Amino acid sequence: MKAVAALLALVSAAVATPLSFVDNTQSPLGNLLPMSYPGFDLDLTAPRLVLFDGQDEPVVMTELEKIQAKARGISTEAPDLGSRAHLRVAQKPAYPAPNHTEAVRSVIDTLAIQNLRDTLDKFTSYRTRYYRSETGKQSQKWLLSKTTEITKKFAPKALQDVISIQEFPHSWAQSSVIVRINGSSSTDDSVVVIGAHLDSTNNWPFLPAPGADDDGSGSMSILEAYRALVSAGFQPERAVEFHWYSAEVLVCTGGVEDQNIDLDVLSLIGRRTARISGTQPIAISQYCLQYDMTAWVKRGTREEVGIITDFVDPESVFQSILTEYNKKLVELYLDIPWVETKCGYACSDHASWGKAGYPSVFTIEATYENSNHGNIHTANDRYDISPEFSFSHMLEFSKLAISFAIELGGWKKAD
Ligand SMILES: *[C@@H]1O[C@H](CO)[C@@H](O)[C@H](O)[C@H]1NC(C)=O
Ligand SMILES: *[C@@H]1O[C@H](CO)[C@@H](O)[C@H](O)[C@H]1NC(C)=O
Repeated sequence: MKAVAALLALVSAAVATPLSFVDNTQSPLGNLLPMSYPGFDLDLTAPRLVLFDGQDEPVVMTELEKIQAKARGISTEAPDLGSRAHLRVAQKPAYPAPNHTEAVRSVIDTLAIQNLRDTLDKFTSYRTRYYRSETGKQSQKWLLSKTTEITKKFAPKALQDVISIQEFPHSWAQSSVIVRINGSSSTDDSVVVIGAHLDSTNNWPFLPAPGADDDGSGSMSILEAYRALVSAGFQPERAVEFHWYSAEVLVCTGGVEDQNIDLDVLSLIGRRTARISGTQPIAISQYCLQYDMTAWVKRGTREEVGIITDFVDPESVFQSILTEYNKKLVELYLDIPWVETKCGYACSDHASWGKAGYPSVFTIEATYENSNHGNIHTANDRYDISPEFSFSHMLEFSKLAISFAIELGGWKKAD
């Protein structure tokens, strides 16, 4: 998640201060702030096109000025994805009442907390998963090889044949990872998307960012769901895709780091529509469930699933239908209740999906207020920082991902 209010005031300089005048001495981190680090491809003087929340036009500033602005609590939003919005679902999507209860429960029963521990331990062992760092690239390559290993080891041969694992390249080194299980239906080309972001960041990008909760937790929650699904031979009727996004911290918050990000988001979100010519409106059904931070149960609070209700395709009634559907899944298949909550700003990738016109839902570890504000975007975003970091809480989100995949993807068992 992209935190806003909790950001440290890293530097005291005003947004408009030219780089050469930046004075770090009044910063809480003072002159300990490294201005570079080996293996980073990040130029603090590079120009960025930044769209601030509530503004119509993006403005040009340096990377450093952008970091300073965010440190002062100014939030940004996704670029205009309106050029694809005409592709939004044109008809009311059909969400059948959840009725694959037995199948969902049998897959849920095979989830293993130890897998969450092992994979998160590895995923947080990189110094940072910052999207412009070498270790960020290495962590993404590890995730890619892990999804490949799981598929080879656990999916039955016939299922392996309909699974594709792809890197989705960007203009920076770290790629997004897309794993697709093709649907068995020859007529239904809709897609069920389950996503999390694989990168991490420190408020000051050159510092360590283990990103255990943000968003190692969401990334590994859905990876374990994927393992359980393919182990059970899950062959959906509609395509089901697992997405691990690079650079959420930029993309969802509007990144707009440069024009390329804009294009990257558009091409990622719209890549299925590329074969459609011209401007003819067309209904593409796509249901997106975003996971960002799934581990934290704040001391003294009730364990619950936060269902975000803002920035999820705000203009569409479909999103509220999907959000209601998501609540139903929590009630049916999880051991903890849901609670509605709001970020108040475009806090994760669901906002980009929503802005592009697709029904999207976003679940989070708690209410926004009770989420892990104290540690994310710092070197303390570790799983061993506090007993409040809960692997069994993460597992509840794996259950939700499984039910979302099976109930919306469909599953006609060939028996
Ligand atoms: C669930 O309901 C849909 C229609 O609403 C039906 O097509 C499907 O066969 C049902 N699945 C199961 C497992 O009962
Ligand atoms: C999945 O389906 C698409 C088209 O529907 C096809 O192009 C692709 O080759 C299929 N992938 C696999 C791995 O079967």
